Amino acid sequence: MDSMLGLKRTNSCGELMSNFAGQEVVLCGWVSRRRDHGGLIFVDLRDRSGIVQVVFSPEVAQDAFLKAETVRNEYVLTVRGVVKLRDSDTINPNMPTGEVEVNGLEIRILNAAKTPPFYIQDDIDVDETLRLKYRYLDLRRPEMQRNIILRHRATKLMRDYFDSNNFLEVETPILIKSTPEGARDYLVPSRVHPGKFFALPQSPQIYKQILMVAGIERYFQIARCFRDEDLRADRQPEFTQLDIEMSFVDQEDIMKMMEKMLAYLFKEANGIEISAPFIRMTYDDAMNKYGSDKPDLRFGMELMDISEAVRGSEFKVFESVLKAGGRVKAIKVPNYSHIPRKELDGLVEYVGSFGGKGLAWMCYTPDGIKSQITKFFSEEIVGKITAMTEAGEGDLLLLMADKPAVVNPVLGQLRLEMARRLDMIDPDKLCFLWVVDFPMFEYDEEEKRWVAMHHMFTAPRDEDIQYLEQDPGRVLAKAYDVILNGTELGGGSLRIYQRDLQEKVFNAIGFSVEEATEKFGYLLEAFEYGTPPHGGIALGIDRLIMLMAGRPSLRDVIAFPKTQSATDLMAQAPGTVAPRQLKDLHVKLDVLAKK
Ligand code: AMO
Ligand code: AMP
Repeated sequence: MDSMLGLKRTNSCGELMSNFAGQEVVLCGWVSRRRDHGGLIFVDLRDRSGIVQVVFSPEVAQDAFLKAETVRNEYVLTVRGVVKLRDSDTINPNMPTGEVEVNGLEIRILNAAKTPPFYIQDDIDVDETLRLKYRYLDLRRPEMQRNIILRHRATKLMRDYFDSNNFLEVETPILIKSTPEGARDYLVPSRVHPGKFFALPQSPQIYKQILMVAGIERYFQIARCFRDEDLRADRQPEFTQLDIEMSFVDQEDIMKMMEKMLAYLFKEANGIEISAPFIRMTYDDAMNKYGSDKPDLRFGMELMDISEAVRGSEFKVFESVLKAGGRVKAIKVPNYSHIPRKELDGLVEYVGSFGGKGLAWMCYTPDGIKSQITKFFSEEIVGKITAMTEAGEGDLLLLMADKPAVVNPVLGQLRLEMARRLDMIDPDKLCFLWVVDFPMFEYDEEEKRWVAMHHMFTAPRDEDIQYLEQDPGRVLAKAYDVILNGTELGGGSLRIYQRDLQEKVFNAIGFSVEEATEKFGYLLEAFEYGTPPHGGIALGIDRLIMLMAGRPSLRDVIAFPKTQSATDLMAQAPGTVAPRQLKDLHVKLDVLAKK
């Protein structure tokens, strides 16, 4: 049977504008809305390109009118009709096709539909679990279609860009031996090798480095990655990277290549000019000024170190912190000296939730400074604080004392929170930057050992190699992150390409040569067969598209995302499997045994 019931589509709904007036068209799509005005039936017909209004009248086409009476929302139709200009008083300026409508002559119902559990339109107020369960309906909504279209377009532009810069797209395997990116692996049991497992890649890291040994020189891949970690709005268990690796380059070459790509992408996909080169900020500066290694530069309110201004005061909290080597820091919230006392108390609780032990304030009101701590300060100290922070009438100073590892991140959080509360963030601004000179290692208190901050294939700065053994905390890495509006878009590094240096780094993180050989002996061996200097980066594509689309969650730009608890609500995955399958895989379930 002819599934189109004899009518072939000639046009898409969204393209019909005034220049189509008088033309006969055949449209296909879903009934977005049907209104029965007695003598006339209006059907808003929707396809991927948009929505157009079709009018059925018994005077024009009796048969079509009677059939139109029977259709309901989300029925699938083919409609033949003639485009006509609307009368000036019925023009709908809110619709791209609002200057025209289609006079329906013929209608075919290609399929019926149950009443959907929510409206197929933008800005619906419906629980996300329902949207995820009926994802195919959610994806029909115009805003979701726009996100999917943007994502397609963006990845196409990336491919074009790297292709024209002489990169090769190479697929790396999904069933691999575990790659260490720091998260937990998803494992796949092997049927043919009892007791053995594949891991799903947390990233193509090792393969792309081996591609450099293999002489590919410039590699990219739109690569699916899997990480079994605690999920947040900007993290999914499976996500996509734009993964890059280049030979015979230094850090600046890679950064410039990415800046140009991002500029091209935003111009072509969003029509936005972004200016390159991006700001480069050291990790130290980012932590000191913004309390974060991914600072949001869309607003100021930097952290200020006022330790030297308050030193020697009667305020015991500050004095003891300073004596112990800590710092007293402040942020200046403009025009908020009238902050209610209740909100101040709430802020103390807020910083407490991030590990801050307390918060002090100085409100520069028109009636003088209001503060719980200035009674402990001499006039001279107050004068120094005012001068150092350039606080003036109307300003609010929030002060905190602690060791840098606490005061920086906690005040950094408070900075973001105050900016949100006071609406200081311009949502249309795009602030890119590079954070550079990351520490090579961070100390893991639980495991009582140093761990790689980026990953263990990252090269230390040449001048710091001498400290690898004695003082690992002092070693900085040839690593860089690209940040957009406070979100880490991507990160990369120049790699170690000599076996002896790689072994030194393994040593520093308490990784024995045997362990390293067992895990990635193949990489170490490859390094001995002529490895070019190389480096790369990976951008989180989901995050990038989320920001390009101005959405708050990765789930809005992934067709079939997982929930916070890593489940697919539509397919009900993960699910149980048949005992036979487990047997084939040599897997015995502890859970079943317990039941
Ligand atoms: P990294 O681990 O920093 O580096 O990851 C690179 C980028 O991938 C994105 N990303 C995620 N996006 C969504 N959900 C997640 N769970 C998630 N985890 C990471 C982020 C991040 O900046 N192999 C190295 C890159 C390299 O050195 O070349 C790597 O994977 O945007
Ligand atoms: P306390 O002496 O602990 O009662 O604190 C006196 C005031 O100083 C309270 O308003 C606290 O919020 C504030 N405070 C306590 N600890 C700190 C700190 N580390 N930094 C800034 N203010 C603090």
